[in-house]
Amino acid sequence: MAEHKKIQIAATGSWVPSHRVTNEMLAKKLDTTDEWIVSHTGIHARHVAQAGETTASAAVHASRIALERAGVAADELGCIVLATSTPDYTLPSTACLVHRELKAGRAAAFDVSAACTGFVYAMDIARGLMGRDPRPTLVIGADLMTRIVDWTDRNVCVLFGDGAGAVVLKWGSGDAGLGESILRVDSEGFFALRREGGNRHHLSEQVDAPSGRSFLHMEGKPVFNFAVKAIDEVVTELLEKSGMTLDQVKLIVPHQANFRIIDAAARRLKTGADKFFLNIAEVANTSAASIPLALDALVNANRLQAGDYLIFVGFGAGLTYGGVLVRWGCSAPLAVV
Ligand code: ACO
Repeated sequence: MAEHKKIQIAATGSWVPSHRVTNEMLAKKLDTTDEWIVSHTGIHARHVAQAGETTASAAVHASRIALERAGVAADELGCIVLATSTPDYTLPSTACLVHRELKAGRAAAFDVSAACTGFVYAMDIARGLMGRDPRPTLVIGADLMTRIVDWTDRNVCVLFGDGAGAVVLKWGSGDAGLGESILRVDSEGFFALRREGGNRHHLSEQVDAPSGRSFLHMEGKPVFNFAVKAIDEVVTELLEKSGMTLDQVKLIVPHQANFRIIDAAARRLKTGADKFFLNIAEVANTSAASIPLALDALVNANRLQAGDYLIFVGFGAGLTYGGVLVRWGCSAPLAVV
């Protein structure tokens, strides 16, 4: 009988900066309170990159852990796919800097721009590429959102943090692996979440936002409403496509934007908020890093067993959204180096 082969998550890794900023620390500089932030978002703290720490260095830290745990050398990789909205440079892609630092030999490397849905997009793209090149692939979500928020704007800056998460994908035997996936965009809503300062004008005409220097702009309410519907749509359709019920899924690992979004989505799905894994309290919204950071936290806490079904669901600027059903295959985390 032919061996059943699937693309599997062989290992995870993550990194957040050591500098931790609590709500109380923010309240000393901003017109906000710990009570407001916790009650409106579920966030208690965020980790903020310091001088010398970049999206590329964050990605390298997370990747080294994932590669070590997977027993894969960087020069065995076929590709590095890195999701980010906060690249070190406009060009080249941050994935190229990670490739250089890891010494990834003959691997391809490129960035994916799908904001907070970036990791889900990157996993699906990586999976497609592995049909042609079966070598292991490194998929990273990395963002330093604190570099692009206006620290005087309490509406936005309290929501975000920095970090990176990585997974190594490998072909493997057995039933574990990546299942059905959905990638979508509600492009009519693109204006609600954006950062200007791109290249719509020649550099010499960029008066308001020269060289890409502008802050993240967010209209909270429409994004909130979109996110709740997006989670419901993705989870419901992934279950339908897979012929499964939500009871068979151990946990949904969502993009960590706001616990109230999760609470409202859980009600739409007629389930409890405890069906969702949340680590937003400690790391805030880390955009593309959010899902792989949460996944690595689950792995490190030994919360996953081989055979468990998980749903990753992301939503963000674009307005992109999507998800993937995963049957977990790793049994336990290996020692972190
Ligand atoms: N501290 C104190 N008060 C605040 C703060 C703060 N940090 N921020 C806003 N407020 C005030 C507002 O000024 C407003 O005051 P007003 O009524 O006097 O005008 C009041 O609180 C209420 O504001 P709302 O906008 O109604 O608050 P809401 O309950 O909608 O929560 C929030 C705001 C948290 C931003 C919510 O809308 C949200 O989470 N939206 C989704 C964000 C998201 O999911 N982003 C994900 C994508 S990010 C990406 O892709 C890069």
